[in-house]
Amino acid sequence: MKELPRFIFTAATMISVAVLILTACTKEGPQGPAGPTGNNGKDANSNCVQCHNWSDSLVTKIFQYNASQHVTGSTVFEGKQVECAPCHTSQGFIECLSTGAFKTAAPYNDAAPVNCRTCHQIHKSYSSKDWALTTTAPFRAFYDSTIIIDLATNGGSSNLCGRCHQAMPAFPKLSNPTSMDDTLEPFTNLWGPHHGTQSLILAGKGAFEIGTAPFRSTDHKDTASCTTCHQAVAQGNYVGGHTLRMNNAKVGNNITACKQCHAGATSFDVNGKQTEIKVLYNNLKVKLAVANMLDTNTMLLNVKFYKQKQLAVYWNFMMVDADRSMGVHNYLYTHDMLQSGINYMNSIGF
Ligand code: HEC
Ligand code: HEC
Ligand code: HEC
Ligand code: HEC
Ligand code: HEC
Ligand code: HEC
Repeated sequence: MKELPRFIFTAATMISVAVLILTACTKEGPQGPAGPTGNNGKDANSNCVQCHNWSDSLVTKIFQYNASQHVTGSTVFEGKQVECAPCHTSQGFIECLSTGAFKTAAPYNDAAPVNCRTCHQIHKSYSSKDWALTTTAPFRAFYDSTIIIDLATNGGSSNLCGRCHQAMPAFPKLSNPTSMDDTLEPFTNLWGPHHGTQSLILAGKGAFEIGTAPFRSTDHKDTASCTTCHQAVAQGNYVGGHTLRMNNAKVGNNITACKQCHAGATSFDVNGKQTEIKVLYNNLKVKLAVANMLDTNTMLLNVKFYKQKQLAVYWNFMMVDADRSMGVHNYLYTHDMLQSGINYMNSIGF
């Protein structure tokens, strides 16, 4: 009989432990944060599955975008400088969109590259309305903030790209760019428009008009936006779509983009215009090198005093160099920039 009480005791202990555990399990823990509901308090149509719908549409965009230079490039570290962060980091771009400034208040060390959120209003209303672009508004030119640029075709998406793909100002500024007497000495060998002058060239803006007549323009801007060509029908993650790429070693040039309007195009060299621009570009490059102005190894300026007009020639040349489309963005404007430079260099004996 000695064993029974111990058994009963053991059984009773086990039951009470089990009850304790059960109680503990059914007792409610602290309230967690509210999950997103049907409308998330923001938008009556909000619905995560409008985008996260287990189809491949989002995956496709991410796949393409991962091949773009925005993702594969390595200039995000420039975010540590407040003058560079507006174009080289996602946070800096969004900050400057709201402040309207050309630099950020502080550096971005944990910088994000240009990504879905930089261009789309992701997770604002939590509905497919969030594919709307973060901006389509006209923008102030960085090289001269009194100039407003509006690339309005196709709803103004080029204004989004153009805010970053534009020239930076160079100091000292040319006060008298057509002068063949005034001289100036740039502060640094980096003097020039920096990289990414594409939106200015497309708009037919930003050059010093040093020719005998106003520079002409091939007005792609009236029919095509950046996306018409750079986001034309995709071929895998090689060109088009969200790769933003026009060419790739495997599939070559994405001529599909041009065929939308130039039905007979067989290359980017429509009507031989790229060939023509390349000849002018190389011609002027040699003249600037012979004049000991351009270092063709570094593609930087040899710093010394120059006539203002010669610096204007140099600026225009570097605008074309940074544009990198060899006349596609704006054939006539590019032509007149280079030809007026060649004419001036000829006139001073180069
Ligand atoms: C407009 C389309 C859209 C809607 C609507 C949407 N998302 Fe997203 N979501 C995205 C995109 C785009 C990404 C980022 C993908 C990337 O960067 O690779 C993302 C990323 C995410 C991520 C990964 C973490 C992050 O923030 O990058 C989570 C989690 C997420 N979404 C949850 C939700 C939830 C929950 C809802 C509904 C309340 C929702 N999403 C509604 C487009 C959307
Ligand atoms: C927030 C600024 C920003 C915006 C907005 C932006 N870009 Fe860019 N883009 C950059 C930067 C910076 C690079 C260079 C990235 C690198 O090399 O690290 C770049 C690179 C590119 C390149 C690749 C250049 C190469 O070297 O091959 C293309 C093409 C391009 N952008 C097109 C576009 C288009 C089209 C849009 C609009 C749909 C756009 N970008 C919007 C900043 C921007
Ligand atoms: C107005 C926007 C803007 C600002 C401001 C800006 N960049 Fe850029 N930068 C670009 C764009 C756009 C590209 C890509 C152009 C292209 O690929 O054609 C680029 C490209 C570059 C590259 C890559 C060049 C190459 O040859 O691959 C470097 C390096 C760079 N920027 C450094 C800087 C630094 C340093 C600063 C600050 C002093 C700065 N950028 C400020 C827009 C900007
Ligand atoms: C450099 C800017 C830029 C970035 C970054 C970007 N997009 Fe886009 N996206 C665009 C533009 C421009 C369009 C065309 C919109 C238009 O013409 O109205 C577009 C269109 C789209 C569309 C079609 C929208 C619709 O209304 O049907 C989807 C979906 C999309 N993007 C998803 C993404 C996703 C996902 C990412 C990130 C992986 C991303 N985008 C990154 C600029 C960008
Ligand atoms: C009419 C079509 C067209 C339009 C519009 C257009 N581009 Fe391009 N872009 C091209 C072509 C074609 C090239 C490449 C030329 C080559 O490789 O020979 C190019 C080159 C570039 C490059 C250099 C990198 C590369 O892929 O070779 C950048 C960056 C760029 N464009 C950005 C832009 C931006 C930003 C806009 C809008 C402001 C724009 N483009 C508008 C056709 C276009
Ligand atoms: C949306 C329509 C459209 C697309 C897409 C387009 N173009 Fe054009 N392109 C035009 C128009 C319109 C003109 C004439 C504009 C003018 O003279 O003002 C033109 C003119 C040109 C010129 C100057 C031709 C000359 O003889 O003066 C070149 C070069 C050119 N395009 C190249 C291209 C290339 C390369 C592509 C593809 C990357 C392309 N275009 C895509 C509409 C387009």
